[in-house]
Amino acid sequence: MKTIIEPFRIKSVEPIKMNSIEDRKKILDKSYYNLFQVRSNDVIIDLLTDSGTGAMSSDQWAGIMRGDESYAGSNSYLFFKDTVQDIFGYKYILPTHQGRAAERILFSTLCKKGDIVPSNTHFDTTRANILFQGAEPIDLIDDEYKNTQSIFPFKGNMSIKKLKELLDNTEIAKVPLIMLTITNNSGGGQPVSLQNIMDVSKLAKEYNVPLYIDACRFAENAYFIKKREAEYKDWSIKEIVNKIFSYADGCTMSAKKDAIVNIGGFLCTNNEVVAEKNKNLLILTEGFPTYGGLAGRDLEAIGIGLNEAMDIDYLNYRIKSIEYLGNKLLEQNVPILQPTGGHAIYIDASLFLSHIPKEQFPGQVLACELYLQGGIRCSEIGSLMFGGIDEDGKEFFSNNELVRLAMPRRTYTQSHVDYVIEIIIEVYKNRKNLSGLKITKQSKYLRHFTAQLEKV
Ligand code: F0G
Repeated sequence: MKTIIEPFRIKSVEPIKMNSIEDRKKILDKSYYNLFQVRSNDVIIDLLTDSGTGAMSSDQWAGIMRGDESYAGSNSYLFFKDTVQDIFGYKYILPTHQGRAAERILFSTLCKKGDIVPSNTHFDTTRANILFQGAEPIDLIDDEYKNTQSIFPFKGNMSIKKLKELLDNTEIAKVPLIMLTITNNSGGGQPVSLQNIMDVSKLAKEYNVPLYIDACRFAENAYFIKKREAEYKDWSIKEIVNKIFSYADGCTMSAKKDAIVNIGGFLCTNNEVVAEKNKNLLILTEGFPTYGGLAGRDLEAIGIGLNEAMDIDYLNYRIKSIEYLGNKLLEQNVPILQPTGGHAIYIDASLFLSHIPKEQFPGQVLACELYLQGGIRCSEIGSLMFGGIDEDGKEFFSNNELVRLAMPRRTYTQSHVDYVIEIIIEVYKNRKNLSGLKITKQSKYLRHFTAQLEKV
């Protein structure tokens, strides 16, 4: 069997409003070439994020109806807690409204001013929450993994050499925890191997530093371990997941990814003292420990979704459909980050539009052109997002100019993917006709959300 089909039937549909290239030209002008300013109604295929955009199953919707909204001792909470414990294995579990709430609580408990938090690559919200505590987030990836064209099975791995160097040369009291993000979203959705998780854990234990996993895409990561790390090829996804988390002291989770729900998250730890502090912070801003800012029905949907995300037929379809998109682009020489990762395709815009300098935002030019030609919305992960103007008024840039096409889970079909391929290839053929953008208005922080741009 070569053709991988969607392992589900569609019971409820949401119409997509079609529009024309003339409509989209006006919309782009009105939005100042910023796709965050475009209404979702004006988007044909929305690949801005895979977070909270997945389609829930009939079982999850049934769970929504079953949701027990009691303030204390809710059945939905007990179901959620038992499920999370069964999969992740931790003693103390707190629901939170999403991933970043878990991060804020954990870093408030563990970090102080002047601390250092190493990771393979921190996601933006992790980074921001560490900085907010006055601590410093540090990314430790081997240099050969940073090249978008180099091919390695586990490009998300943390550099053990760099981690050891850092731990040897830092006062250990200043390293309150080590984070490991699986899969590595900011590094291209690349997986982390079980060997690497074990190696990081061994070092963490040696230096007596707790290890926490940013677990957002844990099931996708486990699938890559099954497929690419020989000793686990006969293991079930759940067995691999159990093993992954047994090497860490806790985890933060955005359920909007691999629990396939629209909102939710959680924070786990085995440390009783940390758990107590976390709980008190949770009550202060999120809610009672049995709901943490969510409704009982949300907890029910998360519990069901976590198991659905580990289903091997689902994961086969999910990862193969991303690979299919990537391979079709590679066949036409479209430069993408290789190998294809778990939840998204990242186009290398500095190679795609090599005639447009960093100063003119090649990633944003490409993202806007994909919208113009096909109504496809994706996000620039380059100098518009990570560049800016420093204290001395000097402009700085991102290392990479990427465009991320993030695939919502179970939301689009194969023909949607074929349409996306067709549009990207068309834009690639006409790439030489594209020209740069410049910023006309921006804010000091997170400028990509609100910046206004115009054609150079
Ligand atoms: N960690 C990782 C690796 C993430 O990708 C995200 C969110 C978070 C933490 C934060 O979770 O949104 O529930 O607060 N990533 C989304 C994205 C926003 O588009 O990649 P959250």
